[in-house]
Amino acid sequence: MWRVILLLGNAVLVGAQSGVAIEFCSAVDFGLEGTADVLARGFSDYFVKVPFTVEKLLGAARSDSVDFSASRIAVADGTAVGAALIARRGWTSRLAGMAIVPEARRQGVGRALVHRVLEDAKNRGDRTMVLEVVEQNEPAVALYEGCGFKKQRRLVGFSTQSESGFATAGLAEVDLRAAGEAMTLCGVADLPWQLSGETVAHLTPPNAAFRLDGAWVATSSLSASEVSIHAVAGVPGAEYVKSASGILYALGAKFPGKRWTMKAVWPEELGEVFSAVGFTRTPLSQWQMIVSLSWTSAGSAPAFAIVDVAAAASRHGQR
Ligand SMILES: CC(C)(COP(=O)(O)OP(=O)(O)OC[C@H]1O[C@@H](n2cnc3c(N)ncnc32)[C@H](O)[C@@H]1OP(=O)(O)O)[C@@H](O)C(=O)NCCC(=O)NCCS
Repeated sequence: MWRVILLLGNAVLVGAQSGVAIEFCSAVDFGLEGTADVLARGFSDYFVKVPFTVEKLLGAARSDSVDFSASRIAVADGTAVGAALIARRGWTSRLAGMAIVPEARRQGVGRALVHRVLEDAKNRGDRTMVLEVVEQNEPAVALYEGCGFKKQRRLVGFSTQSESGFATAGLAEVDLRAAGEAMTLCGVADLPWQLSGETVAHLTPPNAAFRLDGAWVATSSLSASEVSIHAVAGVPGAEYVKSASGILYALGAKFPGKRWTMKAVWPEELGEVFSAVGFTRTPLSQWQMIVSLSWTSAGSAPAFAIVDVAAAASRHGQR
């Protein structure tokens, strides 16, 4: 099958010879209920269940800086066929969620949608776009690589069941804002969006944060039996891994008998922080990907230069 992609004002023709006109509108114009619906349909056959609701979208706006006016819905013949959620912080955009409904796939809609959000980002002056994609999601990885994104690092997840232990003196609960600020100033550079200090600073109770000797951790509610570790940061420098593991150990000892998880957003090269205190890897992994929004002149379709990922990958030392 061959396909055509022609720019027609706001519309793009995709698909086989006859071509299907795709138009784009913002999620604000389309409405949050419609946006949640097209995302739910697009993710209906996904690896993990992703329950998209208006409440979930509003939560993503608050904690992850999703910008609905920058998020795009792809529409064919008056019907929504795909959506791309865009989060924004400073000069950086994040493709925070993207899906094409099953019946509209493999006709070029996904590529046209990614091109559109990259073009939007470039036009508003953004410098980079980032995303995370499940490594085993071969169609999506191929799509993003084809649109110029480069793998920056592998992200992995962990879980463990903690036993009772002796609480470590010095573990103190702190304001999530303070933890977020410290993680921004002292944390590892180029962390994925979800682990960043900005994300932590936007969390509110019943999420919680703790400090131990210059190491910081943010978690979901500790009254539940299963607790997500949202982010952890050690003391900058040579003691980073030891101190980050130390605060995880102290947390497990203070709240015994819980199941602890870290989603697949943790840099693989720092896995020792978790493995040193008995966590084991969970099956899914992700690629953290990035594209620079400097234009190149190749071809009529937007092309995007690649940032120096080798330098980025080696820059996981502390600032
Ligand atoms: C991934 C997804 C968005 C692709 O959308 P799509 O409209 O089918 O993609 P396109 O038709 O524009 O294809 C563009 C490129 O993506 C890649 N691709 C898309 N589907 C593919 C598949 N089934 N197998 C391999 N590569 C695929 C190819 O590189 C393709 O280029 P090509 O046709 O020249 O080979 C779609 O499959 C989807 O919504 N999946 C479920 C949700 C999801 O995984 N979202 C991404 C989460 S990060």
